[in-house]
Amino acid sequence: MSAQKTNEMRAAVYEKIGEAAAVLSVRSVKRPEVGVGQVRVRLAFSGINPTDVKIRSGRTPRQITGFQIPHMDGSGTIDAVGPGVDMTRIGQRVWVQLAAHESRWGTAAQWTVVNQDRAIALPDEVSFELGATLGVPAVTAANCVLGDGPIAGKDVLVAGGAGAVGRCAVQLAHWQGARVAASVSGEVKAEITRQAGADFVVNYREANAVEQLQAWSTKVAHIVEVDLGTNLDLDLAVAAPGTSIVTYAADHKDPVIPIRRLMTAGVSLRFMLLYTLPAPILAAAIEIVKSALAANALQLPPVQIFTLADIVSAHQVQETGPTGRVLVELP
Ligand SMILES: NC(=O)c1ccc[n+]([C@@H]2O[C@H](COP(=O)([O-])OP(=O)(O)OC[C@H]3O[C@@H](n4cnc5c(N)ncnc54)[C@H](OP(=O)(O)O)[C@@H]3O)[C@@H](O)[C@H]2O)c1
Repeated sequence: MSAQKTNEMRAAVYEKIGEAAAVLSVRSVKRPEVGVGQVRVRLAFSGINPTDVKIRSGRTPRQITGFQIPHMDGSGTIDAVGPGVDMTRIGQRVWVQLAAHESRWGTAAQWTVVNQDRAIALPDEVSFELGATLGVPAVTAANCVLGDGPIAGKDVLVAGGAGAVGRCAVQLAHWQGARVAASVSGEVKAEITRQAGADFVVNYREANAVEQLQAWSTKVAHIVEVDLGTNLDLDLAVAAPGTSIVTYAADHKDPVIPIRRLMTAGVSLRFMLLYTLPAPILAAAIEIVKSALAANALQLPPVQIFTLADIVSAHQVQETGPTGRVLVELP
């Protein structure tokens, strides 16, 4: 292998959408330069989310100009800042979010450049591994858990409590002083969810899941929903007038919205997408994650770590819907 030139870096890239093995490769590309208001981050870890593989596969395609380095999330150290950015940020440990959103410089590379507000200070005691798991899931969970009002002392239900977003939502709701229930599909996920702070865990595949949840509460104030199409009946069975339901995923069948039942129940439905959150609301969610980190309220999930050279396997594992998170360690 030829020596890497000093202005180059190793990166996972794709030039067209498709299967991981068909379109992803690792090669040298020119290291990105910082522009106005940007920081450059020497990455330690890149975190993979469902959105990254959906974009790469073409399920939720984006325009590719030349090449695309995948992944929104990462962690590392700022090594250059552009005009308008405080010079003292050089050397700062950060977690990175939305790096590949409207940018070719995703985090599956040795360096990325992002606007300064997308690189957020990582407390010294927080590992780079945890930092790389925060962006998409924790920020989404922060908005979903707290975006409809305070939850202290209230009953909150998190559907899919062991998922990347769901587990963050359980941790945040527990930290905020809610009574937290979560639904999962089996005992391994139940244990992950309990460790995240759930007070009550139900297997949503059991025939009497509704009755189990109703025995826990029939006044759930807020529901963070991963599969509204499947779970709406269950949600309504534990809702009360004023209950808010926020849904952040669209993998499963769309529900038929039972308007009369929803009106009678007095619940509100909200649909949330990170990419279209208004800037102040996104900033508020990031502040919540910062506060949670400072309070030691977010812990590292189970992780599988791949090398950059193994990027295809990393994407393939992500596509299986793993229990826990898939990270790529950068060379
Ligand atoms: N709106 C946004 O901005 C946003 C942000 C982040 C993620 N997302 C999307 O949200 C989805 C989940 O993301 P993720 O990263 O959390 O994925 P993940 O880590 O795979 O978690 C999804 C979890 O949902 C569980 N689940 C599936 N069907 C369920 C059901 N009917 N009831 C309860 N739990 C159920 C899964 O477990 P079992 O299958 O074993 O039950 C799994 O634990 C993806 O579609 C992702 O693209 C959207």
